[in-house]
Amino acid sequence: MVGIGEVKRVTRTCAEIAYAVHVEQWGRGFATQLARLLLEVAFVDPAIARVQGTCDPRNLASAAVLRKAGLLYEGTMRHTAHLRDGWRDSAMHAVLRGEWSA
Ligand SMILES: CC(C)(COP(=O)(O)OP(=O)(O)OC[C@H]1O[C@@H](n2cnc3c(N)ncnc32)[C@H](O)[C@@H]1OP(=O)(O)O)[C@@H](O)C(=O)NCCC(=O)NCCS
Repeated sequence: MVGIGEVKRVTRTCAEIAYAVHVEQWGRGFATQLARLLLEVAFVDPAIARVQGTCDPRNLASAAVLRKAGLLYEGTMRHTAHLRDGWRDSAMHAVLRGEWSA
């Protein structure tokens, strides 16, 4: 398996994408392809006006993937989760239907 992706509905008009790629396959563009595919899936529903994706601000590879897929950085939400190694922040990225081109 190369990776996994998910589209989930956050509100009636907003969906969120998430993905992971097997470590042996990193750096080959798979996450970017997957993120673009997930956007296509999310926007199939005409009610969806916004698709968002978040990452740990330290996860520069994931932020690059979101940007390459067309999502814009909107800001960082602080202390969104408490993990074993402490608090995690979330860098919010999103693309609006009118900005997205399949
Ligand atoms: C983040 C992740 C999905 C990236 O997968 P990938 O298939 O390697 O991603 P891609 O090859 O499509 O693109 C990676 C981009 O990040 C860039 N990148 C990688 N490491 C980087 C770093 N340390 N700093 C800046 N950019 C970096 C690459 O250069 C590439 O951009 P480019 O094509 O413009 O050169 C993968 O590392 C992963 O699954 N990590 C664990 C799970 C995870 O973090 N999921 C995302 C949760 S938000």
